[in-house]
Amino acid sequence: MLSQEKIPNNVNLSSDRRLIRALEAWQPSFIEWWKTVGPEGFQLDDVYLRTAVSVEPDGWAHFDYVKMPDYRWGIFLSPPEEGRTVGFGDHLGEPAWQEVPGEHRNMLRRIVVTQADTEPASVEQQRLLGRTAPSLYDLRNLFQVNVEEGRHLWAMVYLLHTYFGRDGREEAEALLQRRSGDPDKPRILGAFNQPVENWLDFYMFTMFTDRDGKYQLAALKESGFDPLSRSCRFMLTEEAHHMFVGETGVDRILARTCELMTRDPNQDARAQGGVDLLTVQKYINLWFTLSIDLFGGEVSSNAADFFAAGLKGRYKEERHEDHRALDGVYPMEIPREGALVRQEVPLRNAMNEILRDNYIEDCQRAVDKWNRTIEASGVTSFRLRLPSRRFHRQIGIFTGLPLGPDGAFMPNEEWERKLGDWLPTEADVCHVKSLMHPVRERGKVAHWIAPPQKGINGTPLDFEYVRRN
Ligand SMILES: [Fe+2]
Ligand SMILES: [Fe+2]
Repeated sequence: MLSQEKIPNNVNLSSDRRLIRALEAWQPSFIEWWKTVGPEGFQLDDVYLRTAVSVEPDGWAHFDYVKMPDYRWGIFLSPPEEGRTVGFGDHLGEPAWQEVPGEHRNMLRRIVVTQADTEPASVEQQRLLGRTAPSLYDLRNLFQVNVEEGRHLWAMVYLLHTYFGRDGREEAEALLQRRSGDPDKPRILGAFNQPVENWLDFYMFTMFTDRDGKYQLAALKESGFDPLSRSCRFMLTEEAHHMFVGETGVDRILARTCELMTRDPNQDARAQGGVDLLTVQKYINLWFTLSIDLFGGEVSSNAADFFAAGLKGRYKEERHEDHRALDGVYPMEIPREGALVRQEVPLRNAMNEILRDNYIEDCQRAVDKWNRTIEASGVTSFRLRLPSRRFHRQIGIFTGLPLGPDGAFMPNEEWERKLGDWLPTEADVCHVKSLMHPVRERGKVAHWIAPPQKGINGTPLDFEYVRRN
């Protein structure tokens, strides 16, 4: 039986019998899914987790020890804005929809399902990482990310059950049936089928792939469909921690790597049991490019339709002047016969690219910060770089083209030969894997990564973040 106690919510769940029945039918499948493909090996342990119990700014993050299967996956929408109107597209200025607009139903369902699918996918991708966590602090952060992705799935399933009737229920079931990386029933988007095998992958994933999530949610928060907007607004508050885990995780590796380099006569971090800077660069190249693919094709009629319909806006739409975007153009470099030519694309068709711009700018900020960490250590021989958005693409106009990390065309054979200089090779992956030994002692951290700057929620670093049972 579901109740406020079991599913914390601010959607007045107890008053909607039909919805309670639908969620009651779905919940056992969810728990079954969590136990089968969720975090492996730690389901009985007490984990120091935050749980959302309300949407109040000072009250939503409640910290306590919880066994993960008992986590209270809540359903929260940010509070409604009185008199909210559609902020962009053809319906600009009309009252925001509280029900699904019939003419846009299919498009909207597709948007919700695509977002929803990423949430359980990432839990599946990360399921084995608990075995090799570099500290209890990191182990706890992994599980925090996992349970919150579970909650995001609940948030999307709530929308499907509440607003999409029978198709919604079927989609909610299908979300638990697809599996990351499964050749027969894969997850919908590429990066969510990519293996996350080690903690370097994990930090890169939370840095780059969760950050794609931030920008997708930010664009959906603009949606004229008010329940979606309000769900995404609240999800964004949780997403910030996931990106923090990734950005600071990489930063801690860099700090440690540089320390090991200065200790070695040849500045060789690998020889000292660390992750060398070139390997970090290769993982950046890999996860950044997989993640920018998630924004979709550069020129996209779907993106134009989503915008026109008022379903998916731009990042911080209010900062733009023209919310119809009917007349503008966006200049783009388009590949043609081995060269790049400049072309103007109607603004609405360039919405994916515009969102990608915002994302890349944010990634560049993080890379600059990482470089300051390298600089501060005294290492002068290496700086990290984001590769060009044209490099190593599998979606859009640059798919499969021999473009280097600097974005320039090069001869095919040379490009193929150099791929191992740019992306992790089997040897690189083996090296990273060889470093992955769990550290479960309170306050201790693995050799290849620096300790965090401070504990979670004001706790000391030797806090027992996960209690083994
Ligand atoms: Fe999420
Ligand atoms: Fe996330």
